[in-house]
Amino acid sequence: MIWGAELKGKKVLVTGGAGFIGYHLCSKLSQLTDDLTIYDNLSSGLMKNVKDVSIAKFVRGDILDVKTLCGLPRSDLIYHLAAQVVVGYSMENPLVDFETNAKGTLCVLEKARKDDAKVVFASSAAVYGNPTVFPTPESYGFHPFSCYGLSKVVGEEYCQMYREQYGLDIVITRFANVYGLRCHGVIHDFLDKLAKNPNKLEIIGTGKQCRDFVHVSDVVEALVKVGSEDYVNGQVYNLGLGKTTSIIDLSQLILTILNLQDKTVITTTGVSWQGDVTKIWFDITKAKKELNWTPKVTLEESIKEVIADRKIKK
Ligand SMILES: NC(=O)c1ccc[n+]([C@@H]2O[C@H](COP(=O)([O-])OP(=O)(O)OC[C@H]3O[C@@H](n4cnc5c(N)ncnc54)[C@H](O)[C@@H]3O)[C@@H](O)[C@H]2O)c1
Repeated sequence: MIWGAELKGKKVLVTGGAGFIGYHLCSKLSQLTDDLTIYDNLSSGLMKNVKDVSIAKFVRGDILDVKTLCGLPRSDLIYHLAAQVVVGYSMENPLVDFETNAKGTLCVLEKARKDDAKVVFASSAAVYGNPTVFPTPESYGFHPFSCYGLSKVVGEEYCQMYREQYGLDIVITRFANVYGLRCHGVIHDFLDKLAKNPNKLEIIGTGKQCRDFVHVSDVVEALVKVGSEDYVNGQVYNLGLGKTTSIIDLSQLILTILNLQDKTVITTTGVSWQGDVTKIWFDITKAKKELNWTPKVTLEESIKEVIADRKIKK
């Protein structure tokens, strides 16, 4: 059986569907259901991402506008991805971050309660803060280190409350560092810097900070699985590659792929943004076992994919 076949005929709503992960998720969902709606205020998302998903309906709206959100046609399944996603911004603008990520999630849950829809919530490694256990399992608990992490914790707690009190079917997915085409993360940042000046690459922070880089196609596969299957309702899943890479090692890998290793000097600023964490390394045993899911794309493969894509667009 094709995974996700259970979604045929289901009415699916994706908040934040014009964003990076939302675009890739909606591209896959559009092959599985012909009733797909994207709800996004385009604060960081792009109209191009919406247009490139062939059969999706698009409503431009804010998740905080609960009247418009609840006025949308009934959904069976809601993927809630819309969020303020920048950790540094959350430290400078905690109220805006809280409004979007905590209150916004509550608004989406109200829509789900009205529709009796299942919810898949996009949470983050940021709920663990700076863990002391590696690889970090779902059971590690909440120790947020940034306002972003805390607003995701609040979102998760509301999800659990709605599951317990209103009987909603909810799955929480915690993402590590998702990357791929149309992303705007560290890999793209390094490639932009190198395109401007191949002699120098500046890393923000010490470069020793480590991340668990997972390709967006692997995350999308897991999201479709948790959206399709009933037995996962009420569960929390870490979605990462289950490996950790320092930013220095990432930069060296990029330089090697570009054959710049003897030319480019790597420098570090030493100081990072407030709320930045030291190490992300997910234990993905639970997702592997229960979802029969294994992330397939290596970091090297996907850096090459991004580089090839940028050459085409030049
Ligand atoms: N990319 C990652 O590495 C990563 C890691 C952990 C968690 N996540 C989570 O995954 C989700 C998607 O992240 P992404 O990387 O695709 O980010 P993104 O910024 O590309 O997408 C977020 C989308 O939400 C929309 N949005 C923001 N505020 C909104 C509002 N008030 N109302 C309606 N729409 C709104 C934006 O316009 C954008 O299209 C987020 O919830 C994020 O916290 C992402």
